[in-house]
Amino acid sequence: MKSLAVIILAAGKGTRMKSDLVKILHPVAGKPMLGSTLDLARSLGPDRLVVVVGSQRDIVREKFNAKDILFVDQEEQLGTGHAVLTAGPALKDFKGTVLILCADVPLLTAGTVKNLIKSHEEGLNTLSVLTTCLDHPKGYGRVVRGKNGQLLRIVEEKDLNAGEEAIREINTGIYCIDAKFLFPALLGLSDQNAQREYYLTDVVERASSQGERASACLAEDSLEVMGINTRLDLAKANQHLRQKIAERHMLEGVTLIDPQTAYIDREVEIGRDTVIYPNCYLLGKTSLGKNCLVEPGCKITDTRVGNFVTIKASSVVSESLIEDRVEVGPFAHLRPQTVLREGSRIGNFVEVKKSVIGKGAKANHLTYLGDATLGEKVNVGAGTIICNYDGLRKHPTIIEDGVFIGSNTELVAPIKIGRDAIIGAGSTITKEVPPDHLAFSRARQVHYKRRNKRKD
Ligand code: UD1
Ligand code: CA
Repeated sequence: MKSLAVIILAAGKGTRMKSDLVKILHPVAGKPMLGSTLDLARSLGPDRLVVVVGSQRDIVREKFNAKDILFVDQEEQLGTGHAVLTAGPALKDFKGTVLILCADVPLLTAGTVKNLIKSHEEGLNTLSVLTTCLDHPKGYGRVVRGKNGQLLRIVEEKDLNAGEEAIREINTGIYCIDAKFLFPALLGLSDQNAQREYYLTDVVERASSQGERASACLAEDSLEVMGINTRLDLAKANQHLRQKIAERHMLEGVTLIDPQTAYIDREVEIGRDTVIYPNCYLLGKTSLGKNCLVEPGCKITDTRVGNFVTIKASSVVSESLIEDRVEVGPFAHLRPQTVLREGSRIGNFVEVKKSVIGKGAKANHLTYLGDATLGEKVNVGAGTIICNYDGLRKHPTIIEDGVFIGSNTELVAPIKIGRDAIIGAGSTITKEVPPDHLAFSRARQVHYKRRNKRKD
């Protein structure tokens, strides 16, 4: 293989998205479009990787900053041809194939790009463009071929001549071009067109008219090469990718009760024989082990889940670690830095934040646990609240192994409850409880005989 440089075009505003967020940061199945384009580029092992940024470039640079990327600024977005020209100085001494990718084509796979590179190099081409055929080609540049089928030029939608609307073969915006030809050709571009832009597509006509070897390589899967310009395209791409993700998991032994409503992000991992009910969101870097059950309406984000775990309906979990044989929910809320050790149980209307729940410990009903460390087999009664915040600062709570906390208890942090202690129901505990003691702090119950039943 020849040397390979990749240029990713990511400077456009994305006007048609009507968004305050630059288009290439909009996510598809949980990953910003530029992120998936970068993953693809890296998987090709290029010698150089250049990203052209413009709109919101500070945010984009900061988000994707990495040693292997050379960012170049396109101060004004004067068109795709101008964008590639901007990358020129960064590749001044580069000899070989330049692969141009647009960051708004998020479903593209490495396989398709490798085919393009292969056909480009085997055909000894100066320029190869990836194209596809669409029943509804509206919005795309059209591929104009000569009598013998040879590639002549690409015409943008807004510059179509009579009869050219009917052309179904479109430009995907992905090219392999010999560096030696590309940069001099870009210097000759003009903006005399409907959009007053410097079109990258014009280098195709330049190559074919100068007798350079230029050809179009057809992509089979036209959905894979779709460009995202509007929210409609974004929804379509999300739907398509989610379907592919669902199929991959099912073929690996996961049961999705209703694959249409399984919202699983790109990087999620799921073990065999795990069953996911409808309307669940498995997001970010979540992984689920084997033989888990996730009931309807759960949202699990950036969480590691072990084996044989049950997450009952309508639970919300984020940035947590759940070990084997744990039960969560229904209606539980696990916030960041929650650790549920093996066999523990968090029941309905329980919120846990930044806490470790020990092996076999239980908090089954209506409870708040924050900044707490619970030992093994602790039992937290219904309606227990850890008062971890004094209005200024958060304080820790330690509950040692075997503690039993009666219902409707407040534990005012910082506080420690010693091993095997018992807290009487309805207590407000403000002082450390020694091990093996019973503590309670509620008012004593008193009885007064009623004198006058109607008046008192
Ligand atoms: C482009 C192609 C069109 C093709 C379509 C495929 C041109 C002139 N047209 O049209 O033939 O069918 O892609 O999806 O190339 N960008 C910059 N700087 C700019 C302008 C754009 O970096 O000045 C970037 C954008 O961020 C985007 C990509 O280039 O990632 C494509 O730009 P876009 O405006 O979406 O081009 P299309 O109109 O879709
Ligand atoms: Ca586009």
